[in-house]
Amino acid sequence: MDVRILESVHAVARKAADICCEWIRRKPDARLGLAAGATPQALYTELIERNRRAEVSFARVETFNLDEYLGIGPDHPRSFRRAMRDGLFGELDIDPANTHLPRGDAADPAAEAEAYEAAVRSRGGIDLQILGIGRNGHIGFNEPGSSLDSRTRVVRLSPVTLRDNQLGPPDFEEPVEAITMGIGTILEARALLVLATGAAKARAVAAALEGPLSPSCPASALRLHSDATLLLDPEAAADLRSTDVHESGV
Ligand code: F6R
Repeated sequence: MDVRILESVHAVARKAADICCEWIRRKPDARLGLAAGATPQALYTELIERNRRAEVSFARVETFNLDEYLGIGPDHPRSFRRAMRDGLFGELDIDPANTHLPRGDAADPAAEAEAYEAAVRSRGGIDLQILGIGRNGHIGFNEPGSSLDSRTRVVRLSPVTLRDNQLGPPDFEEPVEAITMGIGTILEARALLVLATGAAKARAVAAALEGPLSPSCPASALRLHSDATLLLDPEAAADLRSTDVHESGV
């Protein structure tokens, strides 16, 4: 894994945007796997700015998000679909029909998960998958204990994730389940671009890179990929013991 520690959240976002844009330059119809959540927001802002400056076009790009909460529809303020539309897709020259997330309000969530996995495969797979890491080491919503060859499926969110997700409104009943791409699905992407910033991620990053390769830390599975880049800010890298990892990867 190519592990790089950059000086700030913005440096991480700029480097990540360079990698995304290079993919799109080489392959204008690239299929990007996207993550929701706080970590990639600076990257998405950077991509929006580059798109406005006509440095990159998403006109032929297709996107597949990692996951979506179950029990809420695409217009719900807490849905990842809504967050992606408001925070990224609506600001790009991307065709909305080319942006995909599982339906959180599907009548048959298991069938929806299977169809999503099949859709990714039928399009030829993901070229570049962007990932964040949960405080408990989850990737997508593959919580600790997820099998390393898991596929897209319905999952129950762990207590840590449920706590981290309590963003309100206060009377809102937080979703407890989600559809997520599996760890096996994620590892089939041609390249992985993993972002972790902030002190809250330091333990998960150290466990992922230096702990056992095990379902107890789903992000440790990223080490199995032959083209994975992990971009860290100094706070997220603070618990790493090995200095080798910093420059040359593991
Ligand atoms: C989001 C996702 C999650 C997040 C992770 C980190 O689509 O799949 O794995 O990447 O929970 O979330 P943030 O970035 O909000 O700390």
